[in-house]
Amino acid sequence: MQPLIDQHGRTATDLRVSLTDRCNLRCTYCMPAEGLDWMPLEDQLSDDEVVRLIRVAVRELGVEEVRFTGGEPLVRRGLVDIVRQVRAFDADVEMSITTNALGLARTASALAEAGLNRVNVSLDTVRSEVFHEITRRDRFHDVVEGLAAAEAAGLGPVKVNAVLLRGVNDDQAPELLGWCLERGYQLRFIEQMPLDAQHGWDRASMVTADEIFASLATRYDLTPAHEPRGSAPAELFLVDGGPATVGVIASVTRPFCGDCDRVRLTADGQVRNCLFARTESDLRGALRAGASDEELADRWRIAMWGKLPGHGIDDPTFLQPDRPMSAIGG
Ligand code: GTP
Ligand code: 5AD
Ligand code: SF4
Repeated sequence: MQPLIDQHGRTATDLRVSLTDRCNLRCTYCMPAEGLDWMPLEDQLSDDEVVRLIRVAVRELGVEEVRFTGGEPLVRRGLVDIVRQVRAFDADVEMSITTNALGLARTASALAEAGLNRVNVSLDTVRSEVFHEITRRDRFHDVVEGLAAAEAAGLGPVKVNAVLLRGVNDDQAPELLGWCLERGYQLRFIEQMPLDAQHGWDRASMVTADEIFASLATRYDLTPAHEPRGSAPAELFLVDGGPATVGVIASVTRPFCGDCDRVRLTADGQVRNCLFARTESDLRGALRAGASDEELADRWRIAMWGKLPGHGIDDPTFLQPDRPMSAIGG
């Protein structure tokens, strides 16, 4: 087995698979109110094609963790079936989804039975009216139900991801943390990255990790959690001495690219070796032309070798990737 290595000494063992670019929310920091030009369904990998590529990644390339993303992965009809098929060929691979939790209340137990291990849920506020303002949909209570159902189905420990927007919810970090602590969810705050479809990201208005920390520290005592971070994006802090923790994903101000272990597959079968990659490698074409597992694995290794050392957001020549976050999956 030859793993996915790059020329900067990193090995990718964590595969993030985007199952669709569609989403049932319209978060202002992600896409416009009218949505985007969605990917034609014939361009999308079929369920069997997705499973085949995951099998190649696990068997030939040493991938140990598979995370399903979107858009919103729960809008992909075949999700439960894909999870079941992956679990059928590998009992050990860690499988999770990153979801907005709409509809999770209905599917959590089926996902758990099919072999999913965990869920991470995106939730930026616990005020229903602010949720409506950010997501342009009045669905806060669906998320609350989805979170509870995930925990009840054994898909925990549930993590909550939050993005703070200046003047919208940046005053609500301690409130969100209190809410998550009461329910036993691990909250992580993510610095906003230049990946929105509208290209409206502005570094000066981004809420930084330091600001988030300062805001939380007004209500909580935070100390670094000295557990090994490995390649995890989140820096963890013990809350009031622990054991509960809160995380900060400082992708922009404290990049963690040197320890990156991630590789991405888009819903139309392109390998992206970085969230910010400006090039992709086509596996769907090869797959549909009858390539063997070994050939697909070789293409994948070549795609990985060219991974750049970092995201380059601070370079004067930085250009946002053509694909927005909603089509890469975060
Ligand atoms: P676990 O801690 O294993 O549950 O996973 P995770 O934190 O890697 O996954 P999740 O999908 O919840 O990611 C949270 C957010 O972190 C993503 O939406 C991204 O915004 C950010 N993130 C995840 N992976 C990367 C990465 O490789 N690079 C950067 N810059 N950000 C990432
Ligand atoms: N920067 C950081 N995080 C983002 N997300 C969506 N767009 C961005 C961005 N530009 C988050 C969502 C969700 C996860 C998949 O990524 O809020 O938690
Ligand atoms: Fe890895 Fe790219 Fe994310 Fe850096 S920006 S951590 S290299 S995926």
